[in-house]
Amino acid sequence: MKKNILIFGGAGFIGSNYIRKVINKNFFVVNIDALTYASSNKNINDLNKFRNYKFIRSNIIDSVSIRKILRLYKPLYIINFAAETHVDRSIDNPMPFVRTNVFGVSHLINEIKNYWINLGLNLKNKFKFIQISTDEVYGSIDKGSANERSKYITSSPYSASKAAADEIIMAFYKTYKFPIIITRCSNNYGPYQFPEKLIPLMIINSIQEKDLPVYGKGNQIRDWIYVEDHVDAIYEILKFGKIGEIYNIGGENQLTNISVVKKICTILDKRKPRKNNKSYLSLIKYVKDRPAHDQRYSVNINKIRKEVKWKPKINFNHGIEKTVDWYLANKSWWKSILKNSYSGERLGKL
Ligand SMILES: NC(=O)c1ccc[n+]([C@@H]2O[C@H](COP(=O)([O-])OP(=O)(O)OC[C@H]3O[C@@H](n4cnc5c(N)ncnc54)[C@H](O)[C@@H]3O)[C@@H](O)[C@H]2O)c1
Repeated sequence: MKKNILIFGGAGFIGSNYIRKVINKNFFVVNIDALTYASSNKNINDLNKFRNYKFIRSNIIDSVSIRKILRLYKPLYIINFAAETHVDRSIDNPMPFVRTNVFGVSHLINEIKNYWINLGLNLKNKFKFIQISTDEVYGSIDKGSANERSKYITSSPYSASKAAADEIIMAFYKTYKFPIIITRCSNNYGPYQFPEKLIPLMIINSIQEKDLPVYGKGNQIRDWIYVEDHVDAIYEILKFGKIGEIYNIGGENQLTNISVVKKICTILDKRKPRKNNKSYLSLIKYVKDRPAHDQRYSVNINKIRKEVKWKPKINFNHGIEKTVDWYLANKSWWKSILKNSYSGERLGKL
């Protein structure tokens, strides 16, 4: 018999990639998403053909609706990807971040806890809730790497709201023994990422021969993980992760932002040479830095390697080529976003 799994935020970038991974496994997948600006039916249209898939439009803050969905589908597993996710937008307006990432998650977990408490013993003992958090909660890491016991030193309203959610979820574990796992992953890239984020923005602007705005000197360091590696890690954590634990997830590809942008330019120089014979590198423009921009993220992934036996498989050179090719092959996907919801403008400048 198929196990019911609820995915919140499954119409976004990582959530839709996760559903594509599990749809052929032994699950009945219910995808619940508010369909904010960051999501699109186009991210999930291909899933409608599966008989073990159901989409419901709803908001994690809507307790009544969540309660009904829980009663109807009686899930064994729940994964929450739903969040406001763009740091620059959190600078422009922190309140949607507090509303969804703090209040929304609190309402969601409270409803799920109430559902779980009333389950029969058999289901109750097998139930798991996974919260998808971020390595940004550790803040900027000058030296070494953050492990799961490192302190929160958040800089943006986004990372602060994610850290608040982590604390609430951990409190539910400690207080009610509610069976949670928290994952903290580094920067993702790959198919279906909304064009406001660094990598898709640089690919799409290059293809359109627009400026490539690089914040500050572009020397900020991020650890990049291909989205398929991230969703694999979540899949393995669902099977082998221990209740009450936090797991860092990373790609072990630490790069400066400017080297990422240059890499994209050199791939496009080969894939789609410009008519004026110039390199895409000539489109790079250094612009005013983001306020409170974290200099370096770095996660220690020893725990997931040891306890879950997961490690990243896709190196950056391979993953970024696949990503550039996806955006070249899926122009209608991003062109409709540029037309309808985000046209590439600078956000979060103050
Ligand atoms: N993208 C990254 O690099 C990265 C890295 C680490 C962790 N994360 C975390 O992974 C999760 C998914 O990130 P993503 O990049 O796929 O984000 P995304 O912005 O692409 O998708 C978020 C999804 O959540 C939905 N959503 C937003 N508010 C909602 C609400 N109130 N109720 C229901 N649905 C709502 C949106 O409609 C969208 O489909 C987030 O929790 C994020 O913090 C992302």
